Amino acid sequence: MSTTESYEYTARYYDAAYGELSAQRADRAFYENLAVECGGPVLELGCGTGRALLPIAARGIACTGVDLSPAMLAQFRRKPGAAAVTLACGRMESFDLGAARFRLIFSAFRAFQHLDTVEQQLACLARVRAHLAPGGRFAFDVFNPRLERMALDSEPETLDLSFTHEGRSVKRYVSATRDRVNQLIRITMRYVEETGPGPARESIVHLSMRWFWRFELEHLLHRAGFTEVTIHGDFDRSPVGRTSPAFVVLAR
Ligand SMILES: C[S@@+](CC[C@H](N)C(=O)[O-])C[C@H]1O[C@@H](n2cnc3c(N)ncnc32)[C@H](O)[C@@H]1O
Repeated sequence: MSTTESYEYTARYYDAAYGELSAQRADRAFYENLAVECGGPVLELGCGTGRALLPIAARGIACTGVDLSPAMLAQFRRKPGAAAVTLACGRMESFDLGAARFRLIFSAFRAFQHLDTVEQQLACLARVRAHLAPGGRFAFDVFNPRLERMALDSEPETLDLSFTHEGRSVKRYVSATRDRVNQLIRITMRYVEETGPGPARESIVHLSMRWFWRFELEHLLHRAGFTEVTIHGDFDRSPVGRTSPAFVVLAR
């Protein structure tokens, strides 16, 4: 199963799974403040169910979202405020929104890490540059790889999340293997949904995530033609430090 198929399969759980986590995450506020700073129009790549984009649209800023998963976009369209957002089903490596140009293009919650190869990453960055208005900014976040974890070939299955979906309890178990040659984590997620007295409903999905090193990101963005690149260590815009959880990238 590919990453694309995984999102198709688990779109129904996405908001319930990340509802609580996202409340703790400062990423939504970061992207919303950035959108206010930059002004619209705003484009999100890998917009998913609209978790980060809908609060921006609610401020009256013109918003467009691109995602390759019809199921994630279907969840997005069901939400209040979605009618104000232009949505397109497509890949961030090849999207073409014609003459539309954006003051801010962003990709929240590690969606950029679904681009496995340098060719895909450069293709995406070229599409971003083609759609940026003069002086416009590109922002995205990836996790800061912890060396001690990256050194492990595999991690056994553990309970990662518990949440409620349509009144039923769901547990998500996650295991991972690492391909260090290609900087890829191959993740297996097993969702177990209690369905009452009968056997639990189980779905297993696989997805891959590319990990990035800090200076690799700087080189990648410069290679793609960005001239101003800033990398923060968290959504509070603090500098990258030993224990920073993320690389939060701003480029123009
Ligand atoms: C972790 S979710 C993030 C969703 C949303 N940005 C958020 O913050 O909640 C990753 C999203 O990226 C989408 N995605 C993955 N690869 C993609 C690609 N190559 N082009 C466009 N969207 C992609 C998935 O379908 C999924 O909706």
